[in-house]
Amino acid sequence: MPFMNWEPRFELGVSTMDAEHKGLVAAMNEVFELDARQAGKATVDAAIQKLAGLTKQHFADEEAHMQKVGFADLRVHQRIHAELLQKFTAHYTAFQAGQGRVDPAFFDFLKFWLRSHITGVDRQYVAPRQPAKV
Ligand SMILES: [Fe+2]
Ligand SMILES: [Fe+2]
Repeated sequence: MPFMNWEPRFELGVSTMDAEHKGLVAAMNEVFELDARQAGKATVDAAIQKLAGLTKQHFADEEAHMQKVGFADLRVHQRIHAELLQKFTAHYTAFQAGQGRVDPAFFDFLKFWLRSHITGVDRQYVAPRQPAKV
């Protein structure tokens, strides 16, 4: 059973962002599956690094997209991305210090982050709020 399935509600209708989000789900599933079948630490480590790379790339691409469409809350969204990366790094550092198994808290974080971020925060740049009428 995969760690996370792609759900229609994740679809934003911005094809490049949707493709990257799907890539993140796939990379998370890969980490989960490797950990579930007790793959070696170096193998799991490489999968986490791959996920980290995709995440950084996605955040950069998404921020460029928000800039392009003139999304007003870009700075806030950038800060949220930076905080997510910090948490990711903290979990990854803990993994590296351990025996090679992924802490369930790391998976909880990944699942929560992707679900709530895509359906909540990311969705905001799809239909930016109209300026209030004066
Ligand atoms: Fe985002
Ligand atoms: Fe995103």
